[in-house]
Amino acid sequence: MKCSNPGVLPVYLLLLITLQCSGVSVNHALKNDNRRCGSGPYKTPSFGETNAVKNSWPSMVALLMYNRQFCGGSLIDSIHVVTAAHCVVSFSARNISKLRVALGMHSLRPVKDPQVTKTVLRVAYHNDFNAETFYNDIALLTLDSPVVFTPTISPICLPPNDSSDQHAYRKTVAIGWGAPTENGTQANVLQQITILTMTNAECRNRFDGVVTSGIADHMICASYPGKDTCTGDSGGPLLVQDMPGAKWIQIGIISWGIGCADPDFPGVYTRISSFVDWIEKQNQLDLHILMSK
Ligand code: ARG
Repeated sequence: MKCSNPGVLPVYLLLLITLQCSGVSVNHALKNDNRRCGSGPYKTPSFGETNAVKNSWPSMVALLMYNRQFCGGSLIDSIHVVTAAHCVVSFSARNISKLRVALGMHSLRPVKDPQVTKTVLRVAYHNDFNAETFYNDIALLTLDSPVVFTPTISPICLPPNDSSDQHAYRKTVAIGWGAPTENGTQANVLQQITILTMTNAECRNRFDGVVTSGIADHMICASYPGKDTCTGDSGGPLLVQDMPGAKWIQIGIISWGIGCADPDFPGVYTRISSFVDWIEKQNQLDLHILMSK
C-alpha cells in the first residue's frame, strides 16, 4: 500500500495505516493490544456470589438491538468481540447497522449504564455453524472503531491453541444478563455463576439418547446444582483463572442447553481452544478488507 495522505478515514484505519507505514505489522499490533488481557476479580467467586461486583468483568459486553439486550460477548482486543454464531446468524445487513455493543455495562434495568457503545462494521460467523446441531457456534464482530482500554473496559485472554488441555474439572465462571431461571425475567445487573466443567465423555453420557447430534469435540460442558446459564446469556464467556490473582482466560462461549439448570443436563459451551486459528484468520481477513478499502 501507499503511505501517502490517507484523507478522511476512520481513526482505526489511520491507526492501521500508521502502523503499516511505520514498519510495525498490523497483525503484531492487533495481537499485542491484548497484552493486558484477563483483568477480572482477584479470585474465582464462590458458588453463591451471583451478583457481579460493578464493572468487575471489564471484557464483558452486551449485544443490543433497538436498545434491547439479547446476547453477551467478550472483547478480545481493541476492535473484536467474540460471541455465539446463533446470536447473529439471522441478521441482515440492515439489522447489523442497528446492532450495538455496550461496553463497561453493569445495570440492565431500570436503565442501562454502558460506558461506551459501539456500532459494528463486520459480523463474521463460522461457515460451518449449524443451527440444528449448534456445531461451530462462534462469531466475531468487528467494531466500528477501536476501544480505548480503561480499568473497566479491557480484553479477555484466549487459551493457547492446543487440544491437550481439555479444561475438565475446572471451577469456571459464566457471566451474563440472561434469565436467572427458565421462565424468569432478566436480571437487573450482571450475573455471575461459578460452575464446574466435566469431560466430554461424561457430557455425552448425560445427553445420550436425547440429543442425536451429540456433543462435538469443539464443545465443553459445565454445570453446578441449581446454577446454569439461560436465555439471554448466549454469546457470553465461560472463564477460568489458574490461581488467585492470575489472568482470566475465556475457554467457552455460552451456546445451548435443554431448559435451564435441569439437574439432568449441563450447559453446553463452544470450546474456544478449538477456534483460536479461526479467530486469527478472521483478524487477517479484516485487515485485508480494511487495507483494500
Ligand atoms: N441459547 C441460550 C441463549 O440464547 C443460552 C443457552 C444456555 N442454556 C443452558 N441451559 N445453559 O441465550
